[in-house]
Amino acid sequence: MSSFTLKHLLGLEGVSRDDITTILDTAASFREVLDRPYPKVPTLRGTTVVNLFFEASTRTRISFELAEKRLSADTISFSTATSSVKKGETLRDTAQNIEAMRVDMVVIRHSASGAPHFLSKCIKGTVINAGDGAHEHPTQALLDMMTIRDKFKRIENLRIAIVGDILHSRVARSNIYGLTTMGAQVMLCAPSTLIPYEAHKWPVQISYNVDDAIEWADILMVLRIQLERQQANFFPSLREYHNYFGLTSDRIKRVNRDITIMHPGPINRGVEIESELADSDKSVILNQVTNGVAVRMAVLYLLSGELKSDDEKTKS
Ligand code: CP
Repeated sequence: MSSFTLKHLLGLEGVSRDDITTILDTAASFREVLDRPYPKVPTLRGTTVVNLFFEASTRTRISFELAEKRLSADTISFSTATSSVKKGETLRDTAQNIEAMRVDMVVIRHSASGAPHFLSKCIKGTVINAGDGAHEHPTQALLDMMTIRDKFKRIENLRIAIVGDILHSRVARSNIYGLTTMGAQVMLCAPSTLIPYEAHKWPVQISYNVDDAIEWADILMVLRIQLERQQANFFPSLREYHNYFGLTSDRIKRVNRDITIMHPGPINRGVEIESELADSDKSVILNQVTNGVAVRMAVLYLLSGELKSDDEKTKS
């Protein structure tokens, strides 16, 4: 097995092609485990993982919890609403108290960009970023890459257009870092107000016309308009956004070739994507969700440092 160099997974910026490939290959072997009648292995028996979710989540939280259970780890989930954060306890105090209970790994989602990096300096255990503000969401990008590799058998030289609210998207940032490291061509497509200033320094193309992006792309990765993070009016109305940038079957049909539709969820049907298209055979949105469990199993396993033989890893 190839070596794996990461101690934490804080983001995909700077993560090597070898490390990403190791995660994707390991995830593929764990997906075989998930297809078994008894989809559980003893790999992380004796390892304790805490899921700290300071922000809402459906997919990421459930799939981390499932991944931990499938690996036989002991897991505890924490949400802000029922914790002493409500009484003013800081992130550092919360984490250090949890670590005092002998926790090995912490999975954290937080509205503040950089919260997982800060945590990794406060505690001895391994930290996994489950989404921090508008910064990064590395496991989402990894499961996206796994889904792309499943369908196309490669990532290199594919044309992937990320369409939507790039400015507020941690999914976009992690995918830009991960996909370009793996040799894909990436285009960002949005109204100019939703393209971050620093995008001009990234190794990506930029388009302000969704029909041009559809014409160019093999894969359209559609992003939600994150109204909850927007501090200003970035476009006149949701209806106008849909008219100019929304993905519809009619728009896709104008291009006479196969195009794959991805979306990290949650979907705002009728805003960034037409409902019929999200449910069509061009969509791999639910494959992305399925792959999320396998990718998170791979990340937990590799970061646990328990690099055992393949036989031992998949033994039930
Ligand atoms: N894709 C994603 O992060 O979804 P959740 O917010 O539901 O976890």
